[in-house]
Amino acid sequence: MAAAPAEPSIDLVVIGLGYVGLPLAQEACRSGLTVAGLDVNRRVVEGLADGCSHVDDLSDTDVRAMLDAGFRPTTDPAVIADAATVVICVPTPLSESGGPDLRAVLAATDAVARHLRPGTLVVLESTTYPGTTQDELLPALEAGGLQVGRDIFLAFSPERIDPGNPRFGFRNTPKVVGGCTPACTERAREFYGRIVDEVVVARGTREAEMAKLLENTYRHVNIALVNEMSRFCHELDIDLWDVIRCASTKPFGFQAFFPGPGVGGHCIPIDPNYLSYTVRAQLGQPFRFVELAQEVNGAMPAYVVQRVQELLNERSLAVRGSQVLLLGVTYKADIADQRESPSVDVANGLLRLGADVRFHDPYVSRWRALADPLDVVPDLHAAVADADAVVLLQRHATYDVDDLAARAAVLLDTRGVSCADSPAVRL
Ligand SMILES: NC(=O)c1ccc[n+]([C@@H]2O[C@H](COP(=O)([O-])OP(=O)(O)OC[C@H]3O[C@@H](n4cnc5c(N)ncnc54)[C@H](O)[C@@H]3O)[C@@H](O)[C@H]2O)c1
Repeated sequence: MAAAPAEPSIDLVVIGLGYVGLPLAQEACRSGLTVAGLDVNRRVVEGLADGCSHVDDLSDTDVRAMLDAGFRPTTDPAVIADAATVVICVPTPLSESGGPDLRAVLAATDAVARHLRPGTLVVLESTTYPGTTQDELLPALEAGGLQVGRDIFLAFSPERIDPGNPRFGFRNTPKVVGGCTPACTERAREFYGRIVDEVVVARGTREAEMAKLLENTYRHVNIALVNEMSRFCHELDIDLWDVIRCASTKPFGFQAFFPGPGVGGHCIPIDPNYLSYTVRAQLGQPFRFVELAQEVNGAMPAYVVQRVQELLNERSLAVRGSQVLLLGVTYKADIADQRESPSVDVANGLLRLGADVRFHDPYVSRWRALADPLDVVPDLHAAVADADAVVLLQRHATYDVDDLAARAAVLLDTRGVSCADSPAVRL
């Protein structure tokens, strides 16, 4: 344990300066807290120190404003010893076996344990399975002799950041907190009360952990519902997007979800796995809703490939040798994040059938996720005119889909953004 200074000189140390950690650090800086950021990636730290952002929601100007407010990015874990509060925002990917890979969380916890001073509040924000804070972090932090709830304080607070959302940012999205003890909860409530408008107190860490998984599983399951419906509606010649528009006018009891080429991003395809993993590991049962949703959503890229094949077939073309242009390969509209994007599976499915795949995306110049990376086509309109089939995979605002459909031999609109009288074919 490091020799503790009388008073911590830093209000907050954020561990993991990515999509979650950086907006937290930014909001804390804006709220007048002294903030340091710790990351193991030297390039990330050096970039931030030079005023360069690597996440969509922050511009270089935002990072420079943080630096002006005293933000200090570092790779030195000794900074933890100066902190009143430490928040862990490191990745929690899936392991090879499909369970949670906690290596980054455990490494960050280990760094905290080595530099922890009495009085510090430690919060885990990384998404994980229920029980992680209590069963993994608590014993690791107490190993040095400090007791949680008495000498140090430990809580979980799920991150709800919605990259690219212009309406809900860090401050106006309520923050759920759950501590290991009432004193821990109180410390966490007090801390987040300084940087967000509303703090919601959970009964404990497990409830806070589970709340995050419920939110994302709810999305996953409902997206699967409309994805499965989209296949039937196509066969029945019913426009599902019009159905959803009509159903959405019900002022209660209905929330609209939309079909698409599959689910992407760091949360929806991954988080429900933590839940099914926990249910299987601890109760020996399958979590059928999650598994079914995974099956349905996971099959959507192959369904898109099948629809492309059918559209080419209508014009007596084989997929092999046909030029197929994919529009929008990021997992979400109007951002550059490509993580878990289903576009990769669509491209691979078409490549396997021998298509000449090209892509356009205003946010991606080189598509590195493919085994043979592709450069973006230089001229969108020329590429649309050249292609045997165009597939809109992401509804970036810069795409005028009806205009593109008019220029294309055929355009498959997987996002339902084309007008009713558009030449585009909806999924
Ligand atoms: N991206 C989202 O929209 C989102 C939303 C809600 C929750 N989450 C969850 O938040 C967590 C973080 O996700 P993210 O999207 O910010 O990830 P990210 O990959 O954008 O950033 C994580 C950062 O942590 C750093 N890191 C890894 N191990 C470290 C260690 N031991 N010590 C210090 N730094 C370390 C990495 O270098 C990286 O810069 C995950 O658990 C994720 O599931 C993400």
